[in-house]
Amino acid sequence: MSLRLVELDADILPAVIAIPPAIGEKANVAPVLHSIAEAYVTPSAWPRAILDDEVVVGFVMANWDPGNEIPAFRGGIWRLNVADEAKGRGVGRFAVQEVAAEARRRGYERITVMWEQAADGPEGFYLKLGFRPEGEMFGEIVGVLEL
Ligand SMILES: CC(C)(COP(=O)(O)OP(=O)(O)OC[C@H]1O[C@@H](n2cnc3c(N)ncnc32)[C@H](O)[C@@H]1OP(=O)(O)O)[C@@H](O)C(=O)NCCC(=O)NCCS
Repeated sequence: MSLRLVELDADILPAVIAIPPAIGEKANVAPVLHSIAEAYVTPSAWPRAILDDEVVVGFVMANWDPGNEIPAFRGGIWRLNVADEAKGRGVGRFAVQEVAAEARRRGYERITVMWEQAADGPEGFYLKLGFRPEGEMFGEIVGVLEL
């Protein structure tokens, strides 16, 4: 695998928004189309496609808002969607590592992520990557990764 993050452009947009879940589908993460719309109105959003060579295998969106009064919203992973056929091959781990690297470049010492506790949810993934639960907000667990 040859993974990298790239900024979104018109050429890759169709493949990025085709990543599950579809709009209306019940899932542990929002549809990519929804996230891109949020990014459009959120200047601190940092949306990136995850490519394996030239194939889109995922989408990750961070948020960099160090002055936010809520610590959980100051910086970290907002969304992460890996394409079904690419799951279990290290794409999610790569995305988290890249967001952590970007956070370090920006001077952060920790990043956060929020997840819903569900049997088929991403909790085990984030715990495996070193996030530690640090309270709850809006019914979701706030996970913290010290950098
Ligand atoms: C959760 C998700 C991002 C994981 O991505 P992935 O590319 O399949 O994960 P990776 O292959 O990088 O896995 C890294 C490690 O976590 C483990 N892992 C992955 N998903 C896991 C899960 N749901 N529960 C427990 N462990 C998990 C892997 O086995 C691997 O462990 P290993 O290093 O011992 O082999 C992906 O399954 C996904 O997009 N899920 C749907 C959307 C979602 O829940 N996003 C997060 C919302 S905040």
